Amino acid sequence: MAGDGIGPEIMEQGVAVLSAVAEKFGHEVSYKEALCGAHAIDEVGDPFPEETFQACEEADAVLFASVGDPKFDNNPSAKVRPEQGLLAMRKKLGLYANIRPVETFDCLVHKSPLKDELVRGADFVCIRELTGGMYFGKKQEPAVNADGVEDALDTNYYSRPEVERILRVGYQYARARRKHLTVVDKANVLASSRLWRKVAQEMMGEYPDVTTDFMYVDNAAMRMIQDPRFFDVIVTENTFGDILTDEGSCITGSMGLLPSASTGSSTPVFEPIHGSWPQGKGLNIANPLAQILSVAMLFEYFDLKNEGKLIREAVNASLDQNVRTPEIQVEGGEKYGTKEVGAWIVDYIKRA
Ligand code: IPM
Ligand code: MN
Repeated sequence: MAGDGIGPEIMEQGVAVLSAVAEKFGHEVSYKEALCGAHAIDEVGDPFPEETFQACEEADAVLFASVGDPKFDNNPSAKVRPEQGLLAMRKKLGLYANIRPVETFDCLVHKSPLKDELVRGADFVCIRELTGGMYFGKKQEPAVNADGVEDALDTNYYSRPEVERILRVGYQYARARRKHLTVVDKANVLASSRLWRKVAQEMMGEYPDVTTDFMYVDNAAMRMIQDPRFFDVIVTENTFGDILTDEGSCITGSMGLLPSASTGSSTPVFEPIHGSWPQGKGLNIANPLAQILSVAMLFEYFDLKNEGKLIREAVNASLDQNVRTPEIQVEGGEKYGTKEVGAWIVDYIKRA
């Protein structure tokens, strides 16, 4: 699903890398393209058409790029929006766990707005709950109420099973890493957060090997830029996870570097955490690395570790050799576009 904006350009590189790795390791992959986002609204009037849903259900994995279009952004009364396609996909495929790793690349640390010594070595994963909370709770669009005042409503609803299953994902990741789980909430104010904290406190006894700590979201937002190395695994609700992962991505120096996986009860989806960057569309300047690293996460999900490793190695080599898109290029460095970076990585894989 290439979607909108820069989506098709980075997807082209993602698929090229996927195919090169598949060929190298003797896997046969069949592809199906599907419509979503603004593109799908224009063509069939629905940002996540039934046909796309069927294609997702029949697939083993979905590689997704980005959706969104400026013509919807400044029109709060638009009836259908591209983002609804993404939300529908998450909900219909039961993708409740969004895994967003924040890793730094040593050679790019200077691109971070934070001080070198704070950022170097930062490496954490944010597990964002993806099918609950305010995104999906009862809503009322802006309307004039009985008192003649215009109002609107979003409900931050969570049930115990929803909280429990995402916390378990958090604990599994913590166990496989540095055994430190930070539960981020706003339990001093929000009832839904108090449910999170209650469930987490009950569960922590089952994971004695993992250190669990609790942090209010405002404090976590501060800590993330003050001392990003504090974190190993963060688990949090949908809205907090959305906000904190944009913050996390800037630690690394470019939003164009971060992949993610959304997993749950049906087909998993692999996608960059960034948006469709309409301003960059068609200019061959978008960074394809988040998409390419999403392909690495795809292979790793199926326990194809060497495949994932080769992609990561190729990405690191491209960065080391300054084969980089403009936003992370060194001063006076050679110019590489989306296509050239992708082609370099494909070539590296073929020659490996
Ligand atoms: C993300 C995006 C989406 C979200 C938007 C496009 C609906 O910002 O994946 O983080 O808010 O979840
Ligand atoms: Mn977001």
